Amino acid sequence: MGFISSEIIALIRERTDIIQIIGEHVRLNPSGTTYKALCPFHKEKTPSFHVIPDKQIYHCFGCGKGGDVFSFLMELEHLSFPEAVKFLANRSGIEIPKEYDPEAEKKADLYNYLDMAARFYEACLYDNTAGAAAREYLKKRNITSDTAKKFRIGLAPNAWDSIANRFGKTSDDLNNLERAGLVKPRGQGEGYYDVFRNRLIIPIVDVHGRVVAFGGRVMSPEDEPKYLNSPETETFNKRKLLFNFREALSAARRLNSIVVVEGYLDAISLYQNGIKNVVATLGTAISAEQIHMLARNCEILYLCYDGDAAGQRATLRAISLQKDAPVNARVVAFPDPSDDPDSFVSREGAESFKKLLEKASDIYTFLIETHTRGLKPPLEIPVKEKLIQEFKELVPAIHSSIARSEVIRKISKLLDMDPHVLEKEFEGREPLRSDDTQKKRTFISPALNAEVQRQEWVLKHLLEHPEELDRIRALLGPGDFSDPRLKKIFEAISFQQEAAGGSLKPAEILAALDETTLVSRLSELITTLEDRPPEPFMECVKGLVKTRLEAELKTLQQRIREAESGGDDSRIAQLSMEQIDLKRKMDILY
Ligand code: UTP
Ligand code: MN
Repeated sequence: MGFISSEIIALIRERTDIIQIIGEHVRLNPSGTTYKALCPFHKEKTPSFHVIPDKQIYHCFGCGKGGDVFSFLMELEHLSFPEAVKFLANRSGIEIPKEYDPEAEKKADLYNYLDMAARFYEACLYDNTAGAAAREYLKKRNITSDTAKKFRIGLAPNAWDSIANRFGKTSDDLNNLERAGLVKPRGQGEGYYDVFRNRLIIPIVDVHGRVVAFGGRVMSPEDEPKYLNSPETETFNKRKLLFNFREALSAARRLNSIVVVEGYLDAISLYQNGIKNVVATLGTAISAEQIHMLARNCEILYLCYDGDAAGQRATLRAISLQKDAPVNARVVAFPDPSDDPDSFVSREGAESFKKLLEKASDIYTFLIETHTRGLKPPLEIPVKEKLIQEFKELVPAIHSSIARSEVIRKISKLLDMDPHVLEKEFEGREPLRSDDTQKKRTFISPALNAEVQRQEWVLKHLLEHPEELDRIRALLGPGDFSDPRLKKIFEAISFQQEAAGGSLKPAEILAALDETTLVSRLSELITTLEDRPPEPFMECVKGLVKTRLEAELKTLQQRIREAESGGDDSRIAQLSMEQIDLKRKMDILY
């Protein structure tokens, strides 16, 4: 797909609602004609990420990232440009002439095979004879047929080659099935065999609703392993996907919270009981990426793991990761540690589960409790010392001073120590602050001098009044932009405007820039079109020209002095003529 025409790209951009696309990833709050959100690209607690619908762009004043809807998807979903184009073309019903990028085509094919397989497994579940035991199992697990349909639960038949035979007609097909993680080549001899056999099949769906992988659960306790998950494939990255993420999103945004569980069946069971803001990890420990995916959509993260030791370890790990994300993690504990979310909600109901959520402890309380479980005061001095050492790691990470003093109070009580002494002890370390303040320092431009402000203003004016480009170009050239980035943007605007025959769209200039620093600078300009110096526009243009002429005059005068000291009369005459011309130009200007 090397050559998608720029017309098609422009058409896709036009037909795409940037607010909707970005809104699927962050919570956008309207603010005048723009929208604001917490930036999905860096950690922050107050929103500095802006989306400007009528300009079709976004910009973050915190980290400087900006661009159009394509760059947003490329950055956030790690798509290539053709993938982003294709994705948005699909959504807006625009057909891209095919025959291009065979790689992207092949990946798109994998989704077809995965979807075919999902449909096949689902059909097997409803097969009168072959599916009976599996349906019975679902019933035993209290999963209704509505829920089963909603999650597209299926059954992998008890055979070695259902998928391989049915969908692996050609070697191409078999190759694709293997890449999709559905079949494996036989160790000895020819052919392929099915990965999933005699298992309940739970499809894993990505944020776009495409089946990307499967989890397969045994139906009788003696079979092993209990779960078999698809291997990592081109479509399945376990660190970047969460089970039920797509379905949980709207509830998570509405409720400003998400419940994270470990088991697919825990998630399904909670969902069925009306707890829709639930996701499950994919048989691996929660990753930083997953936490960020969630943090982009809500503030409260309920860690709801099994009550056993493994669940505790998983919780600790999640806590250590969430420190870097703008979320507030809470730990849900079951009164009976042998419970898991599924068993609890099935027995006690949704309301009781919601009460557990309300009672969830903040992570600090949780950490103190896990670190001191089983210890009874008075504690021996070495134990105290060890605990202080552990808490030293913990306390500086607490951003809120109220929470800090609360935690110190708790610890001092436990250790039977004076809180002030403890505080001193913890102070030794530089608190790990939210890096917002630091980022601001580095990213927000220092007070711009008047010159740069003028250059910015000219660009802003051109962005709003592209029809004036010719008039302005008669007065100003790239040489009037002392700021190298603004100069390049001016050149890009001129170039694009000529290419587009006078109609200029900011998002198109953005897309044409190939340096990220330029993209960022331009998206910042577009986002701040409103902020301008009080000076009338033409004065600003004149000001820039004046600055350049003055600089030229200075150089000229310097050269004249050099010529004078060298006694080069003809050169002096030549330069003096130039000086007169220049002064005349300046006279006209003022
Ligand atoms: P659980 O054993 O808690 O399973 O494992 P579960 O989903 O709650 O299912 P039930 O209720 O026992 O039937 C939690 C998750 O760990 C992964 C799976 O992702 C599972 O959902 N897991 C577990 C595996 O990948 N392999 C295993 O053998 C077991
Ligand atoms: Mn479980």
